Amino acid sequence: MIVEQVAAQSAERMAALHEKCFDHPWPASEFASLLSMTSTRAFAVQRDGCHIALVLVRIAADEAEILTVGVDPAERGKGLGMAVLERAEQAVADLGAISLFLEVNQHNDPARALYTRAGYSEIGRRPRYYRGRDDALIFRKTLLERGQTGA
Ligand SMILES: CC(C)(COP(=O)(O)OP(=O)(O)OC[C@H]1O[C@@H](n2cnc3c(N)ncnc32)[C@H](O)[C@@H]1OP(=O)(O)O)[C@@H](O)C(=O)NCCC(=O)NCCS
Repeated sequence: MIVEQVAAQSAERMAALHEKCFDHPWPASEFASLLSMTSTRAFAVQRDGCHIALVLVRIAADEAEILTVGVDPAERGKGLGMAVLERAEQAVADLGAISLFLEVNQHNDPARALYTRAGYSEIGRRPRYYRGRDDALIFRKTLLERGQTGA
């Protein structure tokens, strides 16, 4: 599997995959807008001209944030989610990030399992953050140095 860095030209393909992954997907215009910023990076695994896994990350000084991660439902459980996440971590570490943050719905068990397995720790909670119902859990991972990570 090859994880590639992708740019704004991928916005339509990113939106198509996002739609398969989320109840409230982002439109292609949102991906295009985010990817036009120098602070964001996107990585994807492609097959037959489609994205089957993606991650979007934003860096600000020595902190970075995973904005979204998703894998085609037909391709889950094969390590793709972990692969794109690790690629994003490496990219922001190379750019000087020390801490990486993300938010996840309290009921999203697969994502919570992925982040825990990847070495993230739960550090906080935003009550009723998602549409006034579900809590958002805040996870953080400390990036020690290039190629090395720790909770
Ligand atoms: C979360 C998501 C990205 C995981 O992608 P994936 O490619 O299936 O994950 P991987 O195969 O790389 O799994 C890596 C690890 O995560 C954990 N994991 C992933 N899915 C899991 C599941 N359904 N149940 C339990 N553990 C799971 C496992 O520990 C797994 O490692 P292991 O197989 O060695 O035990 C995928 O389920 C997805 O796209 N969900 C919808 C979008 C979403 O919720 N994104 C996150 C928003 S915050």
